[in-house]
Amino acid sequence: HWSQFPMAPPDPIIGLTEAYLKDDFPDKVNVGVGAYRCDQGMPFVLPVVREAENELVAEELDHEYSGIAGCPNFVDVALKFAYGDDCVPLKENRVAGVQTLSGTGGLRVFGEVLHQFGHKHIYVPNPTWGNHIPIFTNAGLEVRKYRYYDNATSNLDFNGLLDDLQAIPEGSCVLLHACAHNPTGMDPTMEQWKQISNVAKERNLLPFFDCAYQGFASGDARKDAAALRMFVEDGHNIALVQSFSKNFGLYGQRVGALSVVADTPDEAKRVLSQLKVHIRPSYSNPPRHGARIVSKILSSEKKTDEFVEQCMGMAKRIDSMRIKLRNTLEELGSSRSWEHVTKQIGMFAYSGMSKDEVVALREKHHIYCTLDGRISMAGVTSKNVEYIAKAIHDVTEG
Ligand code: LMR
Repeated sequence: HWSQFPMAPPDPIIGLTEAYLKDDFPDKVNVGVGAYRCDQGMPFVLPVVREAENELVAEELDHEYSGIAGCPNFVDVALKFAYGDDCVPLKENRVAGVQTLSGTGGLRVFGEVLHQFGHKHIYVPNPTWGNHIPIFTNAGLEVRKYRYYDNATSNLDFNGLLDDLQAIPEGSCVLLHACAHNPTGMDPTMEQWKQISNVAKERNLLPFFDCAYQGFASGDARKDAAALRMFVEDGHNIALVQSFSKNFGLYGQRVGALSVVADTPDEAKRVLSQLKVHIRPSYSNPPRHGARIVSKILSSEKKTDEFVEQCMGMAKRIDSMRIKLRNTLEELGSSRSWEHVTKQIGMFAYSGMSKDEVVALREKHHIYCTLDGRISMAGVTSKNVEYIAKAIHDVTEG
């Protein structure tokens, strides 16, 4: 039965971790997957997450099923975390929200719903997170790209972006990275977001925000949702997917939320019913533990403050590694400019290295990053930064 099955290629991001784990070179480095490491190179559990977890264990909770839409209190606080406490549609009960299997799960559910209700395409930035393309393709949508980044200048291609959004069919769904764009680390300014919002209005576009790095852009999780909040204030009925993998460090717990702003509470109820129709035959209902942790933290003002502080700590460590990486490359006498490494924000440095250089980095120096030259700065530490800089220098100048 399986003899005709061809071998599938490894995943472009997770496949790197698989290859890295098999590598027995002592100084190997994994800067492929966007997963935060402390300066000792170890996975990091936020102290406030540990504290919430200990409290949960002491509460001796049961392990009954969640509802299809997940834990209501989690959804409540997750939405407030993104939209803000003063969000009018939230206050008017016209936002449909469900717990999802992190960002990926929410993207897939909404992709399926879009497809079911007549959308044939979805527009994503070029470049975008690699997994966006198979997620939406598998949901039945044709993925089309709008211009986003100019490789030649290592800058946002804002004119290209606006031109492309102006030209796409009215009513289309446009995926926007809420903050800390993955992979480029370049976000529009608030003035530019305003222009995007205006074009979206004129063209009756459906803005769909992917918010996976709230806390990693400005360093203040409360500020990083400014763009999507502005869209809501401008009257857009946005859809939003949130991941709690990076900011809360809950990667393997798969904690996320999907929400859709509607015109009326009744409309929101109908949207919610459709989201549930897609979730039930897919995975029935989401897991509880990680959602309980986030819910406990975001329900307490004190714990939320601690979370914001600890998340900022991660963002700051990443920033210091950006500076160190750039400085070391400059000290080595690189003929290229590495200014963009410190200009970019979030977890990634979009290095500008070519595919051949990335392959050489892997084969010669056992450093694993994605073929588009994206380096997960979250995996760069005081101990390996010099090694990485020297290796990059070697493959780019050699
Ligand atoms: C990444 O882009 O590395 C992360 O979002 C992890 C993943 O699942 O790809």
